Amino acid sequence: MASGDSFYVTTPIFYVNDVPHIGHAYTEVAADVLARWHRQAGDDTWLLTGTDEHGQKILRTATANGVTPKEWADRLVESAWKPLLETVDIANDDFIRTTDARHETGVAAFIAQLHNDGHIYEGEYEGYYCVGCEEYKQLDDLMETESGDYAGRLLCKIHALPVEVLKEKNYFFRMSDFQQQLLDLYASQPDFVQPESVRNEIIQFVKQGLEDLSISRSTFDWGVQVPWDPSHVIYVWFDALLNYVTAVGYGDPERRDEFRRRWPATHIVGKDIARFHAVIWPAMLMAAGLPVPHRVFGHGWLLVGGEKMSKSKLTGIAPQQITDVFGSDAFRYYFLRAIPFGNDGSFSWEDLSARYQAELANGFGNLASRVVAMVTRYFDGSVPAPGEYLDADLAIQRTVATAASTADAAIERLAIHEAIAAVWTIVDELNGYLTEQAPWVLAKDPTTAARLGTVLYTASEGLRALAVLLSPVLPKATATLWSALGAESALGDLAAQPLRAAGEWGQLPSGSRVSALAGLFPRIEESGPAAAGAA
Ligand code: MSP
Repeated sequence: MASGDSFYVTTPIFYVNDVPHIGHAYTEVAADVLARWHRQAGDDTWLLTGTDEHGQKILRTATANGVTPKEWADRLVESAWKPLLETVDIANDDFIRTTDARHETGVAAFIAQLHNDGHIYEGEYEGYYCVGCEEYKQLDDLMETESGDYAGRLLCKIHALPVEVLKEKNYFFRMSDFQQQLLDLYASQPDFVQPESVRNEIIQFVKQGLEDLSISRSTFDWGVQVPWDPSHVIYVWFDALLNYVTAVGYGDPERRDEFRRRWPATHIVGKDIARFHAVIWPAMLMAAGLPVPHRVFGHGWLLVGGEKMSKSKLTGIAPQQITDVFGSDAFRYYFLRAIPFGNDGSFSWEDLSARYQAELANGFGNLASRVVAMVTRYFDGSVPAPGEYLDADLAIQRTVATAASTADAAIERLAIHEAIAAVWTIVDELNGYLTEQAPWVLAKDPTTAARLGTVLYTASEGLRALAVLLSPVLPKATATLWSALGAESALGDLAAQPLRAAGEWGQLPSGSRVSALAGLFPRIEESGPAAAGAA
């Protein structure tokens, strides 16, 4: 995309019935890396995240804990969900709660418009409902077990818990009217739903025929009231999906320009909720005459022991268990590098530890400290001027230029793992370059002083490019490196470096003053909690 274009990216809004696990943090980190990349590239970026607070699931949890749902939500937002953002270093621009007045007003305005325009009618819903998913279920979505506590009952395939049978008067959204328009959308905008596996599943699902959707409930009152019938509250998903537009001004006449500037968005969601985002949501927007999202990306699941990790199955791991030992940068790097974005991935402490040691500590961290230490030792802390460039130096320049453009193109396709892998070619090439050029040997011979300067300039300038290109993924380590390189005083803030120009050679001025750089990724004590976790 061209610099200055709008890039609005969202995470799902999280249910506040429980505390976050690393699956939730994974979605946050992916969206944050995309946002940081685009922000640093000069795009008009906005990252939205938040919490989903209405519906039966939250109501029941609050009741079981003896508090009102609003009290419960307030408590969880402050004690768990906002702190998650700190834990994994998310630079969000906004945080929306579905209990915010700005959201509730927008939701009421939206549903009123659909009602006035004839997209909503009154009917009766009779069927299954999973409170865990907050979703109306078809028989296909259910399974039966023959043994255990739930023998003979119909269970939700996702939660393995019994579904409820509902029979109530509801309002319905004429979603079936949009079947053809949705199929046309998937055909004309092939990257609307990604990755391919999720896209195929969505198209299959819509081709089978769409039913109208029940969008209100009348047996409890924790939600946004239906404006023309206060005995109903709006179905929690219909309410929740609207956060993406209410947050940027939909429904507020004074924020029309802001809405036009931001919308449509790129939605990053787990593949389990892709249907809501790629079917129901665009149908709602079509009914309201609003533009559909730019893209919906359904990422894979983090698995533990081969199953989707979840709190209810007691396989949940708190993000802090990882960041307390390895730090937030390593968390961000590990999940986005190790798992091709879109695939499922198994988490293991051993794998995390191995990659931390090999790639972050030995690969990148050591490279940075060695180069800074040599500039300190051989050039009194002042980045030398390069002399004549030889083939080996030019090869590094080409690697940097290629890595920068390949990574940008990969981010554009939401292939975050490919972007990181592309940038990592610089780490690997520079390590090989140092081994071959052996600056510590050049330093022993006064006749190779000029060559030593070229080699260490090449290495320092390579690190400059690495700091810029890795800052969306490793914001803390790259900030430390940036100031150790003396780049802060020479070039200004790391965040202000134009990311799409990161591959242009020769930006770090000779004469920049380097300062001591302790290990960017310190050794992890074997006896720490990681070892305990691995046991
Ligand atoms: N509240 C809804 C989303 C509404 S968006 C308008 C919801 N919330 S959630 O808290 O249950 O899940 C939020 C996100 O976390 C989903 O994208 C879900 O896929 C993701 N994950 C939950 N468990 C996960 C894993 N084990 N692995 C990866 N992501 C997982 O759904």
